[in-house]
Amino acid sequence: MAYLGVDIESMKIAAEAIREGKLVSFPTETVYGLGADAFNPEAVARIFQEKERPSFDPLIVHISDIAQLYKLSRSVSSVVLRLAEHFWPGPLTMVLPKQPEVHDIVTSGLDTVAVRMPNHPIALQLISLSGTVIAAPSANKFGQLSPTHHRHVTKQLKGVDYVIQGGYTSVGIESSVVSVEEGRIQILRPGAVTAADIRAVLPEIEVVDFTKPVEDHLPSPGLLDSHYSPKKPLYITNSIGQFAGERFGYIAFSGDGAVEGPAVVRVLSKRGNYAEAATNLFGALHDMEESDVDFIVAEPIKEEGIGIAIMDRLKKAAFKYKTE
Ligand code: TXA
Ligand code: MG
Repeated sequence: MAYLGVDIESMKIAAEAIREGKLVSFPTETVYGLGADAFNPEAVARIFQEKERPSFDPLIVHISDIAQLYKLSRSVSSVVLRLAEHFWPGPLTMVLPKQPEVHDIVTSGLDTVAVRMPNHPIALQLISLSGTVIAAPSANKFGQLSPTHHRHVTKQLKGVDYVIQGGYTSVGIESSVVSVEEGRIQILRPGAVTAADIRAVLPEIEVVDFTKPVEDHLPSPGLLDSHYSPKKPLYITNSIGQFAGERFGYIAFSGDGAVEGPAVVRVLSKRGNYAEAATNLFGALHDMEESDVDFIVAEPIKEEGIGIAIMDRLKKAAFKYKTE
């Protein structure tokens, strides 16, 4: 593993590595990605190995130019183009009918491919210098905390060829994943782009908001109950009196952090701004995981706007620590 800076010489090294089938972790506006040439199946296979990710969980392909969308999807409708125009580059991933050239290992054998144009200058430069499109899941071990800083990447992944030192990401939680079918858009994974944002752009289209799948069949294979977990137990509650005498960290969404009881308090947004809280969420969980507290307690927030995505990540992070 070698770190790379963000100067042009470093970016050329990173792009060359992608062309050679190596793995490069790079910053996006959401979280760090673990990237490989999407059209090189051996390189993509290494992503799954390095992440210890099950092969049924497909990857997102990152593009830097709208022309690349046509190499990936055989059906680019006017609805898709309007979404792209409004939300790209940005934290929106579209699941679309794939072109036959897109390898099964990228899509886990599905007939669809997930595509996103990230809103980050380093990511866009890396994709365009590489001359290909880049398959990249979040750069974490499967099921563990997502990386919002290059330090989080190297904490979990040891077999990456290069990690670009891009500092903290801005949005802080993974992109919204949507399926786009004839006349209907469905949110498969909530993120910073909400159903309301999409309805504002496409008022005539039915937009189905994120709902936890009830049947055995997952509309998005990566939507497992347990995910994004810290290595210490995490509980979601604001009645912390029950933990008196114990050594725990508390993640609050707003306020000045003057809370009695916890050994460490992290306030995600003093003024209670949910977008700012999303930016700081995974960093706070990483810090608490590394600190000497015995467990973590997070305050719940309202599931509205980007709060839906925040609570989705928190509930999955806490899922395996449920006591009942
Ligand atoms: O913000 C992000 O989306 C980050 C950055 C690096 O771009 N990437 C990311 O990738 O979060 P990953 O692999 O951790 O999550 C991709 C999600 C998974 O839930 C996966 O199941 C879903 O997208 N997905 C990918 N292809 C799909 C498809 N063809 N149909 C349905 N869901 C798909
Ligand atoms: Mg992930």
